[in-house]
Amino acid sequence: MNVKLRKPLIAGNWKMYKTAREAAELVAALIERGAEKHGAEVVIAPPFTLIAPVLAAMGGSRIGLAAQNCHFEKQGAFTGEVSAEQVREAGCTYCIVGHSERRQLFGETSEIVGKKAKALLSEAVHPIVCVGETLAERESGSTLKVVIAQLDAALVSFGASDIAKVVVAYEPVWAIGTGRTASPKDAQDVHAVIRARLLQMFPTTADTVRVLYGGSVKPDNAKALLAERDIDGALVGGASLDAGSFISIIEATG
Ligand code: PGA
Repeated sequence: MNVKLRKPLIAGNWKMYKTAREAAELVAALIERGAEKHGAEVVIAPPFTLIAPVLAAMGGSRIGLAAQNCHFEKQGAFTGEVSAEQVREAGCTYCIVGHSERRQLFGETSEIVGKKAKALLSEAVHPIVCVGETLAERESGSTLKVVIAQLDAALVSFGASDIAKVVVAYEPVWAIGTGRTASPKDAQDVHAVIRARLLQMFPTTADTVRVLYGGSVKPDNAKALLAERDIDGALVGGASLDAGSFISIIEATG
């Protein structure tokens, strides 16, 4: 039997979807259907403007809140940006950084990702650091090289106690929003290399770091992915927008 060392984490990335009313309805449905009553830790990442309405809809629920991005500077003239402190103050305990959409569409580099993660740690917010290769990189056989380079660059200034507060998400870019998923074995192979690299960098604390898989995680593939030894949870996009499918993925951890 595959006994998980780490508590599974299922995070729903809502991206730029939902109105305040739809968000409140989805949260109510998740609570009613017992999202937090399984063995997994459950977190949702709504757009910034929906954080307050989602928090209000949560009541006393144990579902956690994440932001989808932040700026690395403490404050300043950065129109349109939100700081780590503001993310924390809004009620988020997690924040996604380095999502491939931010890397590809908004020019976010691994160096910037590292600075954002550091800023979050200084506010006691857990960064969810995303890494992943493009299709061209996979086809040219450079998946591991790319993923490790992204990880190293993002975590370069981290100490052993910092890393214990970080979550890593492996999301192959070609699997995000495409309906194509890495096979459980292909995903596990990359997760094992990420785990080994983390242990090499931070031998005393890396054991506690959760490494999530993301990229078209759905109710019908979640169980097989989550059964893999080094897959500690999932970062779910499309399937987190519907209470039924998100709950099925949460249930797949048990
Ligand atoms: P997807 O998105 O589940 O819709 O592929 C995952 C993500 O972007 O985090």
